[in-house]
Amino acid sequence: MGAKWETDQIPDQTGRTGLVTGASSGLGLVVARELARAGMEVTLACRDTGKGQAVAESITSVVPTARLSVEELDLANITSVRRFADRFSAARDRLDLLVNNAGVMAPPRRVTADGFELQFGTNHLGHFALTGLLCDLLESADKARVVSVSSTLHKVGRIDFEDLQGERRYRRVRAYAQSKLANLLFAFELERRLRARGSTTFSLAAHPGFAATSLQTAVTPRLVRPVMAMGNRLAAQSADMGALPLLYAGTVPGLAGGVFIGPDGRGEKRGYPTVVMPSRAAQDEETARRLWEVSEELTGVQYRRFATA
Ligand SMILES: NC(=O)c1ccc[n+]([C@@H]2O[C@H](COP(=O)([O-])OP(=O)(O)OC[C@H]3O[C@@H](n4cnc5c(N)ncnc54)[C@H](OP(=O)(O)O)[C@@H]3O)[C@@H](O)[C@H]2O)c1
Repeated sequence: MGAKWETDQIPDQTGRTGLVTGASSGLGLVVARELARAGMEVTLACRDTGKGQAVAESITSVVPTARLSVEELDLANITSVRRFADRFSAARDRLDLLVNNAGVMAPPRRVTADGFELQFGTNHLGHFALTGLLCDLLESADKARVVSVSSTLHKVGRIDFEDLQGERRYRRVRAYAQSKLANLLFAFELERRLRARGSTTFSLAAHPGFAATSLQTAVTPRLVRPVMAMGNRLAAQSADMGALPLLYAGTVPGLAGGVFIGPDGRGEKRGYPTVVMPSRAAQDEETARRLWEVSEELTGVQYRRFATA
């Protein structure tokens, strides 16, 4: 499996439900569209519901059978995450697939509504809280999956517990790399905790390689945007290709929990989905445990039944 896997190999998803964060653009849009094309009922979780509705309409125009809903979720605001999880859980009895995809990259230092550095807060803490609040729904499904979206840049990341929020020293790309390493540490620690409690839910990770989306220009400083846009035009693969590892991790039958899926090309920049290796730092269980505890403290979201791995 893995060689030239494409969306037409996604098994029938009829009867399954999925939630994609950051579905209003880029990879999330493609993932939502292809899951819906395969028959999954998909919720597009977006901070801008107007944009989400427009995306849902654009998907329906190419996939008329798509079963979509749009819900408001701002991952840079833990109150919004809690409100979303309350609404979502009240309206459903299970969730088969959660794709933790939304993200921001390399802005000048900014903070979330809760005062967290924007990238650590949105990319990691928001998804940590969301997943914790949706655990009951996931465990009510048969073999649910959580797919956390990381990046090859996790390899240059380091979790700086002394300055997690970049208050003493902030470097934009370092902070992004830290957040993407945190995504992987979380995915693997979640998998260990799920297995320890004999859960039927599985946690996996994926990365898209280098894909042309708005990530590189959305919040980066204005001066560097033309360079980033040029990089996208010259070197990136399409969002459709970049989304394949996420779709593979979410839907290919029989995948083990804890695997990391990325493109099979040189440097994992482009290509078709395959199993790839996380950095050693991403597999450090002590760092993962500590990050988990800190994340519970910061977000106030306790994974009650997941006390130890
Ligand atoms: N593109 C690449 O080459 C690449 C490489 C490695 C990893 N990734 C990862 O892939 C994921 C998707 O990125 P992308 O490339 O598709 O970028 P994108 O086109 O910029 O999409 C990012 C999505 O995240 C959403 N988002 C941002 N902040 C949010 C918040 N506070 N609450 C809720 N949603 C929020 C955005 O919403 P709006 O539409 O409202 O802005 C958008 O839907 C990210 O996790 C990124 O780190 C991408």
